[in-house]
Amino acid sequence: MTRDLEANPFSPGSPRPRRFVGREAYIEDFEVSLAKWESDGTAPPTILLGVPGVGKSALLNRFADIAQGRGWLVAQRQKVTARTDLRRLFGQAFAEVEAQLIGGKTLNRRAQELLARFKEVRVQSGFLGVTVGRAPSQPAGSLEQDLTAVLIEMANLTRTLPVLFVLDELQFLPEDSLRAVIYAFDELANRVDPATGDRFAVTMVAAGLPQAKAMCRKAGQYAERFNYPWVRELDREETIRAFRETAQLADDDVTEEAAARGYELTGGYPQFIQVYGELAWLRGVDSPISLRDMEAVAPVARARLEESFFSTRLTLATPEQQDLLMAMARLVVESGAKAQTLTNIAHEMGRPPSSITYLFAPLVTKGLLFQPRPRGPYEMTVPKFADYLVSLEG
Ligand SMILES: Nc1ncnc2c1ncn2[C@@H]1O[C@H](COP(=O)(O)OP(=O)(O)OP(=O)(O)O)[C@@H](O)[C@H]1O
Ligand SMILES: [Mg+2]
Repeated sequence: MTRDLEANPFSPGSPRPRRFVGREAYIEDFEVSLAKWESDGTAPPTILLGVPGVGKSALLNRFADIAQGRGWLVAQRQKVTARTDLRRLFGQAFAEVEAQLIGGKTLNRRAQELLARFKEVRVQSGFLGVTVGRAPSQPAGSLEQDLTAVLIEMANLTRTLPVLFVLDELQFLPEDSLRAVIYAFDELANRVDPATGDRFAVTMVAAGLPQAKAMCRKAGQYAERFNYPWVRELDREETIRAFRETAQLADDDVTEEAAARGYELTGGYPQFIQVYGELAWLRGVDSPISLRDMEAVAPVARARLEESFFSTRLTLATPEQQDLLMAMARLVVESGAKAQTLTNIAHEMGRPPSSITYLFAPLVTKGLLFQPRPRGPYEMTVPKFADYLVSLEG
């Protein structure tokens, strides 16, 4: 059998993989949260954390689909960038929810009144919706007050219909915007409708790089009440399934031993799985994809990742920050321990610890290091980055 190269089912870079594998426990927890919101409105918002390429955006999309399937109004994954204006971002999200509300059913008079009122509040507060390109009208108050007010108005409007906001790349939000988001969704999770005694079923699920957790904590004490599931790489069995079931979508397969080798090569990181899978598919020698194919594409895949994934991230660091990363990478590879203390890193660099302290904060901001525990040791954010850095020296 020869393989149809055009039918390649692997999709590196797409947050909607053709075949979505694993994550059952995350989905179950999310469904429990949704059910709690539906019944009494008391579940805390969720922020998924994980390293680049581990599958946070794909999981968020999954969550959005699940909520929609249960009848929630969903503002689909809104991607935050360094230039995001929160009023505009939420303005668009509100417009999306409004459109679903109007499209879903004919509104009775009361609902129409509420909708008009909601529009008024949102425009007054400078949440501009789809009218991109126009400057916001004078916002009424602080970002957190305005966001809270609009969300409460929305909750009053949708009432029995729960609403979910999905935000991605949370680490890019400036501090005041993040504070507003945390404040507003915490308010919604705790406030009771004075008229009915009901809670408001308007909530958020978000995702971000590991440093987002410390950013949230810093942005406000309310952040303590949110859930922060850690998104892990796929395990061996899931990785094997990811290779095989993706190939099977296009009536092909990956042998068990090739897929197992794929696990060793990728460490179960979905981004890497998609890259190795695609290259093995395009090699097109054996059908099903064999161990020989997998071995043959390994150096090509490494080069591809170097170019698209590793080197772009390394260039974010200044030469001095790169020295630190190199020293840390040597320690990680030699010891096999991901977490390294500032003192050990300083020692490896041959410098006094106090002289390198200032290098860490920018490396965290750039998404190259993170601290799993406040004041604890540091880890590299990019998966397999230490191996990559050491290979540059070797
Ligand atoms: N559960 C999964 N099964 C199969 N493929 C997946 C899964 N999750 C993610 N992928 C694939 O892995 C790649 C990376 O996924 P995704 O973009 O969701 O990662 P991410 O954690 O959001 O990364 P980043 O931090 O860079 O935004 C994509 O090509 C995606 O299609
Ligand atoms: Mg993502």
